[in-house]
Amino acid sequence: MPNAISGFSKLSKSEKIEWLLDSYFTNKEAARMLVKQYWNSNEQLQKLHDEFIENTITNYYLPLGVAPNFKINDRLYTIPMAIEESSVVAAASKAAKFWLNRGGFKAEVISTTKIGQVHFIYKGDFNQLKTFFENVKFKLISDTADITKNMERRGGGIVDIELKNKSDDLDNYYQLHATFETLDAMGANFINSCLEQFATTFKSEAEKNLEGDLSIVMSILSNYVPNCLVKAEVSCKIEDLKSKDISKPEVFAKKFKQAVNIAEVEPYRAVTHNKGIMNGIDAVVLATGNDFRAVEAGVHAYAARNGKYSSLTHCSIDNDTFRFWIEIPLALGTVGGLTSLHPLVKFSLELLEKPAAKDLMQIVAVAGLAQNFAALKSLTTTGIQEGHMKMHLMNILNQFEATTKEKTQIVEHFKTNIVTHSAVVEAIENLRK
Ligand code: MEV
Repeated sequence: MPNAISGFSKLSKSEKIEWLLDSYFTNKEAARMLVKQYWNSNEQLQKLHDEFIENTITNYYLPLGVAPNFKINDRLYTIPMAIEESSVVAAASKAAKFWLNRGGFKAEVISTTKIGQVHFIYKGDFNQLKTFFENVKFKLISDTADITKNMERRGGGIVDIELKNKSDDLDNYYQLHATFETLDAMGANFINSCLEQFATTFKSEAEKNLEGDLSIVMSILSNYVPNCLVKAEVSCKIEDLKSKDISKPEVFAKKFKQAVNIAEVEPYRAVTHNKGIMNGIDAVVLATGNDFRAVEAGVHAYAARNGKYSSLTHCSIDNDTFRFWIEIPLALGTVGGLTSLHPLVKFSLELLEKPAAKDLMQIVAVAGLAQNFAALKSLTTTGIQEGHMKMHLMNILNQFEATTKEKTQIVEHFKTNIVTHSAVVEAIENLRK
């Protein structure tokens, strides 16, 4: 076991690596080479990445793929996706192509506000607190003028601040519950800066003008954004669902809807169903430099908003029309954060023709819906493994360090055979005999 280390963050990058090698690795040279192999030869680019976080030792690559042919509100997009799971981009591309000639995807942003809270403890009379809040509310807002002036110039800013009495849930617990419009910025820094200023003003005014003891616990935005909502949908006549792998569209539509209904009522299935949606969502969120952890947390909370975890997508069959849609909260930014820093994020945003945050919300929601459509289409027809294992084949071949020639022969073989892990191993062994 290595000794604890102090001052690690102050070591140079090479010193950090040497400490790691001395402390944890037997084959130091191999580990050193591995770490350095992933450094970018462009020193400036490497330095940029080094400075994104603390204690960077190297880069961790994920593939950046693209899914073309996404028709969204009659406009064509090629969607960038950063993800390691082999079948995701292929599934998105297939779903995009499927809907391309069936009207494409329709998307709309329903709302765009975000929430931040100052959590505080107050031991005193609630009516006095209420009066104090009403008197101080204007000052809370005016004291943030330096922080909000640019955002206000663009049409955003603080929408409202409410006092919330939470003392039934937790003794003496209250909140300043603030609503923000952050336009094209995800807004975390803006919101948190405003909240910290609210807290400072609120505390100092309370010391002068409020009886009872008031102490601020914390000030932070919420990643639960049910009022930053986007909807995306596809629809067509049931008979138009007919395609190469859907020979009986009525049967397909009915089974597809049953699969969605199951995810609406059964949490075990809903989690996996929504995980498939997040395959598409996270990949685009990551490619565009947004915070996928924030999106994940907010989306899953929304999926449980009625007290039971449920599907994020829904399906209807009305007379002869099939409709499939998603409604999700997405707090995204197309300015600020990594958007102007990470070269591949800049590339991705340019590929999407420099979307506003509202456009990106629509694109991301569509990516989630498309992913879910592809998954349910496979699950209710061929089963998921056929497509999944075909895509996973290359990973297995790489595990066995197959040569290019071996790969070509084996991929050919599996064009007409079912891919399973053991079948691939057997094929490699046979080939190498
Ligand atoms: C795999 O990453 C995602 C799926 O399990 C989603 C689903 O079951 O709907 C295929």
